[in-house]
Amino acid sequence: MKKILLLGDIHANYPAFNAVVQQFRPDRFDFIINTGDFTVYSTFPNETIKWFRQRRKTICILGNTDRRILRILKGKKLRRPKKKEKRVMYFWTSENLLPDNIEYLKSLPTQADLSLGAIQIGVFHGTFDDADETLFPHDAEGRFIELANDSPYHIHIMGHSHVPYHKIVDGVHFINPGSVGRMFDGDPRASFAILEVSSERISVKHFRIPYRVEEVVKSLKECHLPDIYSEMFQTGQKLN
Ligand SMILES: [Fe+2]
Repeated sequence: MKKILLLGDIHANYPAFNAVVQQFRPDRFDFIINTGDFTVYSTFPNETIKWFRQRRKTICILGNTDRRILRILKGKKLRRPKKKEKRVMYFWTSENLLPDNIEYLKSLPTQADLSLGAIQIGVFHGTFDDADETLFPHDAEGRFIELANDSPYHIHIMGHSHVPYHKIVDGVHFINPGSVGRMFDGDPRASFAILEVSSERISVKHFRIPYRVEEVVKSLKECHLPDIYSEMFQTGQKLN
C-alpha cells in the first residue's frame, strides 16, 4: 500500500502549509503531491518553494499563478488579472523570489504522471485537457465522463477550484484536496487530503486543520500589501 499526501493551492501561505507538515509528518508518506499555485497572495513564496525544492519524493506542478510569475520574470506583460490589488500581489511576488526558487519553478512541468503498479495517476492544476479549467464537484456529470474516457488515468488529482472533493465516475477517481492556504468556503483552516493506493483499494480522506492566520496578517501588513488579503485569509472567503 502506498500512502500519498495531497496538497495544492498553497498560495505562498507557509504558516498554513507548515501546520500541515508539522502535524502530518512528510516521512510517513511515499509521495507528496503538490497540484500547483505555490505562489501569490501571501508573503512566503520562498519558504514554500524551498521546502519542496529540498525534498525527495515530491511531485510538483505549476498552477496558473506560478505560470504568470514566470511570465513576469521573462519580462512579458501581465494582461490578467485586471484588478489593481491582485496585480500588486503578482509584482510583489516576482520581485521577492530568490534565484534558486525561480530556477526551481522554471524546472517544473504543468502536469505529471505517477504509476503505482497497474494504477496510473495524473496530476493536474486544472484538468487533463486544460491547465486552466476549473472543475467543481457539482459540474455536469458529462464533463467528468469525458475526462474519465479520454484519459489513461485511474486517478486524477487536481487543484484550482479550491474545493475539496472525491468523485468516482465510470470507475475513475477525481480528487481535489482543496486549498492549503486560501480556502473560499468561509472556513480559513488549511485543506488537504491523504490518498492510499493498493491493488485492492483506493481510499481518500480529506482534512481541515487550523493554523496561525495572524502570522500571515502580520506579514502582509509589514510588507504593505493590500488589507483585502488579510481579510481574505481571516475569513476564508474570496473577496475580489
Ligand atoms: Fe489557486
